[in-house]
Amino acid sequence: MKVRPDDIWVITFPRSGTTWTQELIWLVENNLNYNAARERPLYERFPMLETTSQIPEIAYEFIKANFMNLGSFQGLTEAARYPSWKMIEEMPSPRFIKTHLPLSLLPPTLLETAKVVYVARDPRDVVVSYYYLHKMVSKHLMRATFHDFWEAFRRDLLPWTPIVAHTNEAWVHRYHPNMHFVFYEDMIKDLPKEIRRVCKFLQRYYTDDQVKALSEHLSFESLRKNKNVNNTTGEENNGVQFVRKGEAGGWKSHFDEVMTSQAEDFLISRLKGLDLVYPSLE
Ligand code: A3P
Repeated sequence: MKVRPDDIWVITFPRSGTTWTQELIWLVENNLNYNAARERPLYERFPMLETTSQIPEIAYEFIKANFMNLGSFQGLTEAARYPSWKMIEEMPSPRFIKTHLPLSLLPPTLLETAKVVYVARDPRDVVVSYYYLHKMVSKHLMRATFHDFWEAFRRDLLPWTPIVAHTNEAWVHRYHPNMHFVFYEDMIKDLPKEIRRVCKFLQRYYTDDQVKALSEHLSFESLRKNKNVNNTTGEENNGVQFVRKGEAGGWKSHFDEVMTSQAEDFLISRLKGLDLVYPSLE
């Protein structure tokens, strides 16, 4: 696909703070227009690359152009199967694109052309959050225990794994002028500071009061209530919400002693030879 110079890409391993960062970037780039943000769900404003289309009007154009001869119902089904990246190619600039694919699976021109924000998180918190995500998406019919899920994660059997290699692919480019690398844990620690860093990267300048208002908008409590971001309340989600707990270090209450030591071995072996340092391991 063709990358555009005014694209902004958010790349993450799932459950690393993608949604949080997307809302932050979208607002910073759109003059903090909270009303416009409220008008459309985040997945339309900032679509995901490796899925099928969720953007009604663009999907509609494709139905008209490609599938009308199939009749409306079948046409819609086909459009729903239409890959998002094709829809994204048709989007007007500036585009905001979310992906969980690692850099090595993305267009080779990406970093030279567009702005990229990578968000990383302690893999132990990621696996807990990822487990609840699978429970939340009822159609996955996930019956695994957390223990089983952790086994699959550490053996790189889950989508988008292996996590440390995924993160390291971005980490090695952290000083590239088009790359902004951020840790979830640092956003938890000092959100206004991380907002200012993002603003600097995007060359947007806001007053202290504006940054304060933005961090309030982005607070866990506020995003949880925001239906355009956390659109997952209701029984179909097995009682789990997309914006779930919002903690750093919550993994400790999910890992027993054996799993804790497996996680330590996992991190030591995966980080061997790399200079990647997770703030939670410092
Ligand atoms: P938990 O399940 O640990 O709570 P992603 O958007 O990449 O799927 O990441 C989801 C994770 O980010 C979830 O983690 C979610 O609660 C957390 N998150 C979302 N908004 C947040 C916020 N405003 N503050 C802290 N954590 C947030």
